[in-house]
Amino acid sequence: MTLILCATDGSPSAKKALAVACDLAKCKGAKLLILHVQRRHGGEATPDELQFYAKVEHMALSEATAFPAEAQRIASAAHAAAHEAGVDQVESLVVEGDPTRRISEIAKDRGADAVVVGSRGRSEVAGLLLGSVSHKVSQLVPCTCIIVR
Ligand SMILES: Nc1ncnc2c1ncn2[C@@H]1O[C@H](COP(=O)(O)OP(=O)(O)OP(=O)(O)O)[C@@H](O)[C@H]1O
Ligand SMILES: [Mg+2]
Repeated sequence: MTLILCATDGSPSAKKALAVACDLAKCKGAKLLILHVQRRHGGEATPDELQFYAKVEHMALSEATAFPAEAQRIASAAHAAAHEAGVDQVESLVVEGDPTRRISEIAKDRGADAVVVGSRGRSEVAGLLLGSVSHKVSQLVPCTCIIVR
């Protein structure tokens, strides 16, 4: 096992997933690739006026991930946490698009040996054991997929 991909949306569940990914990377001497996928609004980058509107209207946390600064912050925080946990080789990446599709594509392109995700994310829908991203990723990636609960 040489490359472990951990996908994060910055949620508490993704933080648990990162802790497991770090343990695995250290145990195997593998590189850890941290990935955050920034969602797009209607396929376009969020215009400034909309970002301002969102702030004024206290737009929900899940929607806030469409902002580039927030996406960078999520990736940097995870990168720092992985270093802190003692993982030697860490790379973090922010890309745009549909989370499931991008996570699966990058896992394939990079030849990841395992993908680690949380069981839930930032959505506030209660009562589900599994979010749609973790569910779909587990169906799509060709490698081992660890869903952390
Ligand atoms: N935008 C993203 N970028 C990277 N990883 C993500 C992203 N969204 C979700 N994930 C990963 O998938 C895990 C599960 O999140 P998911 O989005 O499936 O649950 P949810 O937000 O509770 O539900 P849903 O989004 O289906 O309403 C997260 O813990 C994280 O590991
Ligand atoms: Mg989600």
